[in-house]
Amino acid sequence: MKVAGVILAAGIGTRMRSPLPKVLHSLLGTPMLQYVVDTMAALKPEKLVVVVGRHADRIREAIRGPKALSFVEQREPRGTADALRSAAPVLRSFRGTVLVVNGDCPLLTPDTIRALLTRHRRKKNDLSFLSFLATNPASYGRVIRDGRKKVLSIVEEQDATAEQREIREVNSGVYALEPRVLALLDGIGVNPSKGEYYLTDVVHIARAKGMAVDAFLVGSEAEFIGINTPEDLERAGRLMRTRIVEHWRSRGVSFLDAGSVYISARSKLGGKTVVYPNVHIEGRTEIGSGCTIFPNVRIVDSTIGDGATVKDSTVIERSSIGRNASVGPFAHLRPGSALEEDVKIGNFVEVKNSRIGRGTKASHLSYLGDAEIGKHVNIGAGTITCNYDGYKKHVTRIEDGVFIGSDTQLIAPVKVSRGAVVGAGSTITADVPANALALSRVRQTNIARWAERRRKQEGRNQPKEKPTRK
Ligand code: UD1
Ligand code: CA
Repeated sequence: MKVAGVILAAGIGTRMRSPLPKVLHSLLGTPMLQYVVDTMAALKPEKLVVVVGRHADRIREAIRGPKALSFVEQREPRGTADALRSAAPVLRSFRGTVLVVNGDCPLLTPDTIRALLTRHRRKKNDLSFLSFLATNPASYGRVIRDGRKKVLSIVEEQDATAEQREIREVNSGVYALEPRVLALLDGIGVNPSKGEYYLTDVVHIARAKGMAVDAFLVGSEAEFIGINTPEDLERAGRLMRTRIVEHWRSRGVSFLDAGSVYISARSKLGGKTVVYPNVHIEGRTEIGSGCTIFPNVRIVDSTIGDGATVKDSTVIERSSIGRNASVGPFAHLRPGSALEEDVKIGNFVEVKNSRIGRGTKASHLSYLGDAEIGKHVNIGAGTITCNYDGYKKHVTRIEDGVFIGSDTQLIAPVKVSRGAVVGAGSTITADVPANALALSRVRQTNIARWAERRRKQEGRNQPKEKPTRK
């Protein structure tokens, strides 16, 4: 049966005390609204409408969704009922159940919404919503039931009587409703204490019209956290982090200290991968199976092949690493770096926008930028590709089997052809032919007994002693 989804995301989020639209605040690097959109998209709705307010353009830009996704604007944040009414034009032709959720509820899962939908349909309700028992119900609407446990209304904290405030069953902000309920929105009056039109008022209006209304206690409190304050955001972030770690653990990933690991919701990890403490896996990152990620590593929007090792204190951004490659410790792969399998990038090596062929090694202290490096190349310690002339970036090409001696500068654009050797300490300004030796350093001269003569001049026979401390 058909469903449509509406996400209310036009509130100004005053309680966040931040100029950023509330629904764009992020959990593990992803805007909270994106989680809600993904959850709703999992239900394959015919239409998915996000109601946005101020900063509509920023929200549109930041959020990705399925084809069915569209945005409507609520001009003024006049309350949740008004927000849903703004979506009505898009739903006019729709004949099916409408699912409405708050955009500030990022931990909600598709299964919980399905549970609501199943119960809503089984009971042939006009309006159903999910409730839960809150430890601290003050920031939610209380569910008021009559003597026969039938739902009468939802009352917000500031409108509740002392007796109603004792109630722990609260509204989650997840609703399923039939199109005829949408027609009741116009009958909602302004709430005197806040000057807003409350969607929750539709509950008693529907009841008064004799419609079938019900609340279902499904799901856990952790899932229904509505984010109103920075404290809520932090708490939700912690819950999300735990949920993601548990998911990957159940798929065979091991964590030495899960509490210190951050994995974005859009990342993936393969089985038998081991994650050490204090690791951050961000954006859309895919880590293969059998990998080891040592402590203090940050990986952003990157792909790591099976069996690869990322050693301590390494940063990898928008790059890919082939199978069984090894990167770090203290390495930095900047955007656009592509390492093939068995590549080794060692301590204090920075790579940017470069391709590095299979089995190539750059083990120590190098900068490789805008380089195309072939297979089985040895990059000696301290090698620098001088890619920038102060105006433009230039490419360095190093072909298969080349040996670059330590402390070499390659002044790009330049090419070192297949099988060539570059002597240590060279500054390479011209192309090197295949299998040649390139040397650009000054020939060494040894002046016999020079040091001895100098010492004599200075009236000393022995090498200078260590100064003694006074
Ligand atoms: C709302 C419910 C409350 C419920 C709680 C669950 C109402 C009146 N109250 O309270 O019963 O327990 O959610 O978390 O609905 N929004 C708009 N336009 C507006 C106002 C809000 O789109 O004019 C959006 C917000 O962006 C937000 C959602 O609606 O995503 C809920 O608004 P919020 O102000 O957070 O409502 P709560 O006070 O949390
Ligand atoms: Ca809220």
